[in-house]
Amino acid sequence: MGYVTVARLPDVPAGTAKVVTVGDRDIAICNADGRICAIDNICTHDEGSLDEGDLDGFEIECPLHGARFDVRTGEATEAPAFLPVDTFPVRLEGEEIQVEV
Ligand code: FES
Repeated sequence: MGYVTVARLPDVPAGTAKVVTVGDRDIAICNADGRICAIDNICTHDEGSLDEGDLDGFEIECPLHGARFDVRTGEATEAPAFLPVDTFPVRLEGEEIQVEV
């Protein structure tokens, strides 16, 4: 599919996440203190929407039961989730955030 533009940088301020849909995937675009990362938006514990959770540094916390994931790697860093979420390559073209799915 290649890289597709999903958002503009001003739409995702530092310390926030924004959900976008690419094909049939809901992806959370995370601005971790200036570093843009893209992860699957669905928590691997019980399908919480990660974009609605708090982004703290490089960790995002699921709003349902508090699992945490490293947005750089997708790794689950806090129970009750143990499986990682998918991550996606991201690049910036000017102010455009582009994701490869
Ligand atoms: S659904 Fe995310 S921690 Fe339970």
